[in-house]
Amino acid sequence: MEMNSIKVNGIHLAYARRGRGAPLLLVHGFPLDHTSWSQVAPLLENDFDMILPDLRGFGESTTSNSPYRISDMADDLAGLLDHLGIRKPAMAGHSMGGYVSLAFAKKYPQRVSGLALVSSQATADAPERRDGRYKTAQDVAEKGVSVVVETMTSRLSANANVQASVRDVMKRQKPSAVIGALKAMAEREDLLPLLSSFLFPLLLIHGDQDELIPFARSKEMKAALPASQIVVLRGAGHMPMMEFAEETANALKLLR
Ligand code: MLT
Repeated sequence: MEMNSIKVNGIHLAYARRGRGAPLLLVHGFPLDHTSWSQVAPLLENDFDMILPDLRGFGESTTSNSPYRISDMADDLAGLLDHLGIRKPAMAGHSMGGYVSLAFAKKYPQRVSGLALVSSQATADAPERRDGRYKTAQDVAEKGVSVVVETMTSRLSANANVQASVRDVMKRQKPSAVIGALKAMAEREDLLPLLSSFLFPLLLIHGDQDELIPFARSKEMKAALPASQIVVLRGAGHMPMMEFAEETANALKLLR
């Protein structure tokens, strides 16, 4: 996919754009980039005008030296939408991309026409998980991104082809992006109470074999907003857009 870039909030934010239809922002997870959606995007080309950013630091985007929060990543997306003249897109966020999308929905509720959370959650980290992220950030600073590649790959998917693809994507990420995002995720707030205020449709897409963020997290969100819709992808792990691209694309069409 051809990349463009804008300057926003002191960084260069890279993004791809493809397809025709209602605007849909596809927000990738950690520690990946917009290529997470490479299998799904061709299947949605006639349904959506897709905007696929590389979040701050990831892919071709640059990062800042000062610490940042998930809400800063959401502000980057607001700047991108302003630049593109898009007022109110639908959003789909995978995992960490879901955290960013929720932060966006909190700050700019009038700018969301519908939200899909793919393999994600609304609650904040438990204290042990938060400590673990700081420890991992330190390990990445000392030993590089390979630390994360080694520990995460097998937990992302049981599918060997998917593992090989995500390994490649993870390996090319910058340590500064991985460290910055780990700290931002550790500091994110609990947004479960926000869900009941949503005036737009919420779609929860989750694999029942997800080892990183269990399916129970989507059930918890469904309980917080009973009007939301759950799509369970049986047999999918944490990377449904790569493991079950067609089913994931069909679920995302519910945002039209
Ligand atoms: C992701 O896939 O984006 C991350 O694993 C999410 C997380 O670590 O909480």
